[in-house]
Amino acid sequence: MDVYEAIHQRRSHRKFKSDLPRGEVLERVIEAALWAPSGTNAQDWEITVMAGKVRDEFVELISGAIKHLLPMLKKAQVPEQGQDLVMKFFKNLGGAPVVIAVTIGKRPEDPANLTNVQSGAALFQNLLLAAHAEGLGTCWMTGAHSLETEILKFLGKEDQQLLAITPVGYSDKEPPVPPRKGREVRWLGF
Ligand SMILES: Cc1cc2nc3c(=O)[nH]c(=O)nc-3n(C[C@H](O)[C@H](O)[C@H](O)COP(=O)(O)O)c2cc1C
Repeated sequence: MDVYEAIHQRRSHRKFKSDLPRGEVLERVIEAALWAPSGTNAQDWEITVMAGKVRDEFVELISGAIKHLLPMLKKAQVPEQGQDLVMKFFKNLGGAPVVIAVTIGKRPEDPANLTNVQSGAALFQNLLLAAHAEGLGTCWMTGAHSLETEILKFLGKEDQQLLAITPVGYSDKEPPVPPRKGREVRWLGF
């Protein structure tokens, strides 16, 4: 798949079939993710891929984020229908058979932490695009960060910080295409 096609067609998926993606497909996705650039090539990231019972236990933990999310959604005046959708998604991550969590090294000093976060984000976007190229759906998620301590404990990565998680699986519902805002881009010196 052409890189422009992947960038434009990737969407956030929130409903999945139960079919488990083959191990070799997931390995290709992870391999592509790991080719992301990173500050000083530190590659200070770790990826946890979960399926089966571990996935179920992890999703159970994530669903606890709903109680923190709901007040935020209300405050942001998200319509009730939208709130229901978010709650439903967080309950079972759309039934995705695989969940991937990415953690990165803790570097409290600035700008080192910013570099780590940006490197992790590059890895995460690679992961999402490669998954899309493999016909898999994903959804970048930071909505469970209120449970970061509990999540890191679950993953056995207490020395790290949580970057994001994503459900992974074959999509069961074509998601809408959220429009992009027309931003001003300045071309100087041309
Ligand atoms: C940093 C980041 C955090 C996000 N967190 C969540 C989340 O917690 N839950 C969720 O359903 N979607 C989450 N999203 C997905 C966005 O809602 C989505 O990317 C946006 O609406 C555009 O839709 P698209 O990805 O289909 O193009 C997140 C996206 C990013 C980049």
